[in-house]
Amino acid sequence: MRRVAIMTAGADAPGMNAAIRSVARRSFELGYDVLMVRDGFEGLARGDVEIMNKKTVSGILPLGGSIFGCSRASVDFVRQNLVRMKDALETNNITTSVIIGDRSAVAVGALFHANGIPCVVVPNTIDNDIYGTDFSIGFDSAITTISDALDKLHTTASSHHRVMIVEVMGRETGWLALYGGLAGGADFIAIPEQPVPIETLATHLRQRKEEGKDFSIVVVAEGYPVALHQPVVSGRPVAGYGLAEALGEMTNLSMRVTVLGYLQRGGSPTVSDRLLATRLGLAAVNAVREGKTGILVGEVGQRITFTELKEATSQPHVIPADVVLQAKTFY
Ligand code: F6P
Repeated sequence: MRRVAIMTAGADAPGMNAAIRSVARRSFELGYDVLMVRDGFEGLARGDVEIMNKKTVSGILPLGGSIFGCSRASVDFVRQNLVRMKDALETNNITTSVIIGDRSAVAVGALFHANGIPCVVVPNTIDNDIYGTDFSIGFDSAITTISDALDKLHTTASSHHRVMIVEVMGRETGWLALYGGLAGGADFIAIPEQPVPIETLATHLRQRKEEGKDFSIVVVAEGYPVALHQPVVSGRPVAGYGLAEALGEMTNLSMRVTVLGYLQRGGSPTVSDRLLATRLGLAAVNAVREGKTGILVGEVGQRITFTELKEATSQPHVIPADVVLQAKTFY
């Protein structure tokens, strides 16, 4: 009898619950027992495991976040608590785990596999930085939030003839900034993959002003290397303020900053994320059925793919150079 544990690990993202629902429904269909682990790896370490039934996943498809709860457990935490985690899995007779999570979850999945703990990982992060899939669950919802925010910011920037610096998330990659900025019609997009000198950006804004464009929307990825003093907010340097401070001095243009922050992680998943989560959840359980373990399920070129976790954790998913180049048409 297969007993499948589902856990959500790392940062939450819209679509996580749709993935939980898909994994559970396919498992029930195959006659497996399904168990939930609360709060990701921290919950597993304390043995917070509970049997699920169809009612557990009833009505959760459109809900943001994770009904199980998440935690930011590091690989080191998992190493230190691996015995407790193994005990919790064995005590509950769990035959395999489906981990829905971000790059940290991929790294822990690789550690589980190396220690003989069967698992399959479903890529879920707004950052879209997981190697082995074109898109991660949550990314489409986050760029929709960014695009909607830029639509709103256009009207106020235009009314006051200002440069609006909009900082978005994404860790070390610029996926959110590039795709959200393009969808929202940004006038410049600053991404780690293309760290142009700040003078280039200042010149671009001055040229816009000379052409009679009396406002600009600049999207900056949080990982953009603003080699300037950056104010630190709750322990995290804020690229947007550093950029605004420097550009204001260099251009004498009126600057304002909006940090979108955790809005990008919230809300109901888009249709695309609901469908991606459903497809990847099904693929994960089908992989379990075929005896696969130690793999990340993904979708590359609209085909379901399986990537060894060791390979998936070795590198981030970066924006292809030709995509970055083509985007320059618009800013
Ligand atoms: O990985 C998702 C993400 O939102 C990043 O884009 C962001 O830098 C980070 O999580 C914030 O981490 P936390 O939720 O721990 O503050």
